[in-house]
Amino acid sequence: MKGVILAGGLGTRLNPITIVSNKHLLPVYNKPMIYYPIECLVNAQIHEILLITGGNNAGDFLRLLGNGEEFGLKQIHYAYQKGEGGIADALKLAEFFADGEKICVILGDNIIEKNIVSAAQDFEKQASGAMIMLKEAENQERFGVPAFKNNRIIKIEEKPKKPKSNFAVTGIYFYDNQVFDITSTLKPSSRGELEITDVNNEYLRRNQLEYRIIDGWWTDAGTFESLLKASSLVSKTGANKLS
Ligand code: G1P
Repeated sequence: MKGVILAGGLGTRLNPITIVSNKHLLPVYNKPMIYYPIECLVNAQIHEILLITGGNNAGDFLRLLGNGEEFGLKQIHYAYQKGEGGIADALKLAEFFADGEKICVILGDNIIEKNIVSAAQDFEKQASGAMIMLKEAENQERFGVPAFKNNRIIKIEEKPKKPKSNFAVTGIYFYDNQVFDITSTLKPSSRGELEITDVNNEYLRRNQLEYRIIDGWWTDAGTFESLLKASSLVSKTGANKLS
């Protein structure tokens, strides 16, 4: 399985600190934010990684990460997203890299306390389809939120005003190659972006969406509140622990 990190976007929710810096290069406690999703993938034995970025400061990733030696990698692949088409639009750029293999996609501002090792192993065994990682959360109206019936997801709503469960869809997703057919047919949402939630709902419609619940804490770091929370959690417990 290959790994894809999505680290584009303008990070406008963090203005003015993202005016001259890409959000994913900001510090989370003692490391740049982008270190955490890379470590998460490497912990899950995913060593072929594509980093998709965009915006004005894309070259800074190369200066910071080089070939990924810091993480024990031989090489990091890079792609550049033009414009602000959203997460699912950025993902289209991974088709050539994936080359028919399964992928684990992680949003560059998602940080976890532990690891996704067992989910990755389960997805390797899954014949086809997708698997998403969920976590109980507050402020679900900021996230994708699943609705359940008999422990099966029946629908995912993006940023719902009235969330139908206590769970958030985290920014960690496993996909087979169908993902690229799906992203090519998506239409922009009301915020003008191709939504990852629409990708997951299409897998659901095809009856091919599994889920797992993340062990330990999970947070994003894309708002002032969550950025502070992420630094605080990392300082207290550390992140990306293998056990
Ligand atoms: C994105 C996804 C959302 C998901 C979240 C996780 O939201 O659209 O479904 O719950 O990441 O971090 P965004 O950060 O683009 O608002």
